[in-house]
Amino acid sequence: MKNKKYTVTAALPYANGPLHLGHVAGVYLPADIFVRFLRMKNEDVVFICGSDEHGAAITLRAKKEGITPQEIVDKYHGINKKAFSDFGISFDIYSRTSNAIHHETAQDFFTVLNNKGSFIEKTTEQYYDEEFGQFLADRYITGTCPNCQNENAYGDQCEKCGADLSPTDLINPISTLSGKTPPLKETSHWFLPMDQHEDWLKIWIKEGKLDGVQQHDPKAWRNQVNGQCMSWIDGGLHPRAMTRDLDWGVKVPLPNSEGKVLYVWLDAPIGYISATKEWAIENNKNWEEYWTGDTKLVHFIGKDNIVFHAIIFPILLKEHGNLILPDNVPAYEFLNLEGDKFSTSRNWAVWLHEFIEDHPNQLDELKFVLTSIAPESKDAEFTWKEFQARVNNELADILGNFVNRAVVLTQKYFEGIVPKLNELTEVDQDVLAQLAGYPEKIEGLIRKYKLREAQSEAMNLARLGNKYLAETEPWKLAKTDMARVETILNIALQITANLTIAFAPFLPKKAQQIADLLNCGELGWDVFGSGSILPIGHQINTEKPEILIAKVDDTFVEKQIAKLEASKVANTIAPKTPQKELVSFDDFTKMDIRIGEILAAESVPKSDKLLKLLVDVGVDKRTIVSGIAEHFKPADVIGKKVCVLLNLAPRAIRGVTSEGMILMAENEEGKLSFVSPQDGFGAGSEVR
Ligand code: 2FM
Ligand code: ZN
Repeated sequence: MKNKKYTVTAALPYANGPLHLGHVAGVYLPADIFVRFLRMKNEDVVFICGSDEHGAAITLRAKKEGITPQEIVDKYHGINKKAFSDFGISFDIYSRTSNAIHHETAQDFFTVLNNKGSFIEKTTEQYYDEEFGQFLADRYITGTCPNCQNENAYGDQCEKCGADLSPTDLINPISTLSGKTPPLKETSHWFLPMDQHEDWLKIWIKEGKLDGVQQHDPKAWRNQVNGQCMSWIDGGLHPRAMTRDLDWGVKVPLPNSEGKVLYVWLDAPIGYISATKEWAIENNKNWEEYWTGDTKLVHFIGKDNIVFHAIIFPILLKEHGNLILPDNVPAYEFLNLEGDKFSTSRNWAVWLHEFIEDHPNQLDELKFVLTSIAPESKDAEFTWKEFQARVNNELADILGNFVNRAVVLTQKYFEGIVPKLNELTEVDQDVLAQLAGYPEKIEGLIRKYKLREAQSEAMNLARLGNKYLAETEPWKLAKTDMARVETILNIALQITANLTIAFAPFLPKKAQQIADLLNCGELGWDVFGSGSILPIGHQINTEKPEILIAKVDDTFVEKQIAKLEASKVANTIAPKTPQKELVSFDDFTKMDIRIGEILAAESVPKSDKLLKLLVDVGVDKRTIVSGIAEHFKPADVIGKKVCVLLNLAPRAIRGVTSEGMILMAENEEGKLSFVSPQDGFGAGSEVR
């Protein structure tokens, strides 16, 4: 029978920060398990991932770190690629959307759709930050979600309720650049009229049919994916801009489109195709075979990516033509950490690259725990206490213990040689019958993306082995009935061999270690369930087995928790400059601080630092000399409303009498910002 082809993708992470365990548990590890299983089944699979290097997530991070977007993506692409590889996520390719092949592929894709009339070019009003001279889309603008009232919704999406938004949907929109309420300004873009696709999308999602042909089993999709999609469609889809006014990204491949790039959600998913092309070139394959015909396309993603993979990308793929649509979009809920959300900005995270560096011998232990608690159908929580409990009570006490007993007893009684299988008792027959049922059970669960349960079934097989040894007690029979001991240990070793197969997709290193103990090489899924994998007379390893799974002690747990707490404290309360001495309330009220409006500004001769300002402070108009010339040009500051300390004793600065002081905020990098009031607060308003 011809094997099926699979294209399995894992969401391209933004190269704007390191990966944490939430990312791993809810996308990359399950995708890897699924792919490892398919490979064991000899399916023809390509596993695609890479860095998403465009979009506001990157440029805003670059701004925050004070380096260029290119430096940001180079830094985090390197860190993340290495972490994935060290952790053993077995991508066939880990590419990046800055590669030339991706820019070409995405531009060609856009051109195909544009030539087909899939977009509508229109001029609309969009928010514009006048201070920064930039249109505000996506993460450049935040506001209150009209759907769930979350105050931190982005211009393209509310991460709390999942609603897809346009900046103009936001209540109280604020520019993330200047912090101000931006005005609207006209600009033209290419829109995808998603509303025109509602009819076929409904049928495709509900029934799995496209143009009357069955494409996928809709019952195989997770409820939350179907549910989210239907609620978007039922709520009415709207045209969505597929281009942006930015200088970072894939350029719109049309004349007169300078300063316009593709929307990152048009660009990034096409990254799956470009990465497949890149892999195909390197491996002498035909990429098209993995994107056409009866190949199954599976997207592993986090739940915040559902709309993009189950609605927008399918529209784009269908419009393009000759490309398959996803067979399934296994989306994961979120993982929390020790009672709180993972947060990069608050440094509340266990970073993958740090875990690898600190605990290189516990990577499969981490995989085991993350799969045990994977947020498949609801949000889940990682705690170090649970890490300890699962490693000690399950991995070590059940799997480790069973494998150790089977190997050590065989070494002790039979010098490591697989003994004969004599007459079978009912207990033996029952155990062998149960063993034979595991492959189907585990395969069925993996194919339904129920990897938590599948791993738990693999552990049940080890439990079965333990129960069998506990019931038959070969160590007691060794004095009286060696024939019986032979049979029992033969069966125990066959179970052990089966465990290397059952655990191979989940814990590849441990499975390999067990296979090394058995001296049996890698075993395929085709022999899984068999009671005669190891031939009688086969020599297993005779060295004293090293501990397969080391127990996690309390000190380890305490250290991890302390590390987390310390990073949180360091991040939240460490002041950049020490707090000054306390002042009395009376002293504070002596200061007369008011809002002033800068009416005129000029440089002070022979000074790089000073500006001479004429400021309306409500009570009068006065001259103030301010040391801001290195940060602002005179023309930039005229009209600004600022905080002014009015009753500072007048001082002569470079021959000019200054009657007050402009208050400024200064950040870690020494950059200055005016402290400005909201709209509606005029000159003279008191600050106290
Ligand atoms: O949410 C994210 O991290 C996105 N970078 C995922 C992109 S997935 C795909 F479309 F490439
Ligand atoms: Zn919302």
